[in-house]
Amino acid sequence: MFNLKNKVAVVTGSGGGLGEAMARSLSEAGAKIAILDLKDGGKVAKSLKTKSKYYQVNVLDEKNIQGVLDEVEKDFGRIDVLINNAGVFFPTPIIETDASNWDKIINVNLKGYFLVTKHAVPKMKNGGKIINTASVAGTHAFAGSAAYNASKGGVIMLTKTMAQEFAPRGILANAICPGVFETPMTTDLLKSEEMNQMIKGSVPLGREGKPNELGPLAVYLASDENTYMTGSIITIDGGWTCHL
Ligand SMILES: NC(=O)c1ccc[n+]([C@@H]2O[C@H](COP(=O)([O-])OP(=O)(O)OC[C@H]3O[C@@H](n4cnc5c(N)ncnc54)[C@H](O)[C@@H]3O)[C@@H](O)[C@H]2O)c1
Repeated sequence: MFNLKNKVAVVTGSGGGLGEAMARSLSEAGAKIAILDLKDGGKVAKSLKTKSKYYQVNVLDEKNIQGVLDEVEKDFGRIDVLINNAGVFFPTPIIETDASNWDKIINVNLKGYFLVTKHAVPKMKNGGKIINTASVAGTHAFAGSAAYNASKGGVIMLTKTMAQEFAPRGILANAICPGVFETPMTTDLLKSEEMNQMIKGSVPLGREGKPNELGPLAVYLASDENTYMTGSIITIDGGWTCHL
């Protein structure tokens, strides 16, 4: 079950963290992987068992995206799965945040998903699957993170729009909303006593998630067995938001 043999998956932000974990799980299920990241993902690509290659891309640069996706198509023949995942996080309390910092988060986390999808979908000629990494911050507001919350809320609405626009092409699009996972993005956050107390007190499973706990969900969403789930927003957070 959930065999991805011969599928070609493009995963943005897969030079580390959740993107790397999803790329790894997809590869273990047989998919060939295009690792797209701003930072060097060469080591990750080399460590995967299936054919895989790293492409440097800045998801803010439309020409760069187009060029890289053309290369992916030349190298792998087609695209079956797209995971939009490259993202940034830093605090943005509303009255203290520069417009340029607002733009940075919204542009990487939301416009980047739009741009990569815009140029990947015409290459998904046999239909396929799109998975967008949103966040519990897209469904529940966290004070001090206005731009991040708004970007992830935007990803949820973008996902629902993708589901509608791409259904006639046989492309199913869903969003994943992780809670707190241990990645380079959260390393500093997870060092704070306050954060650890919050996790112990508010997350029913009493701990943060490990990146490899996200992989199997991505494999299912990407697989041929997923024939009827599209436009869905799937939370994976140890139960955190059940009581928010
Ligand atoms: N870690 C968590 O707790 C958590 C929770 C919810 C959602 N998320 C989301 O999951 C996704 C992955 O985050 P992560 O925790 O693995 O963080 P991470 O920092 O480990 O990974 C993010 C990746 O995106 C890449 N990236 C950033 N800007 C880019 C750009 N302009 N162009 C191309 N690549 C770029 C980075 O180089 C990095 O490899 C993000 O969208 C994040 O918002 C993370």
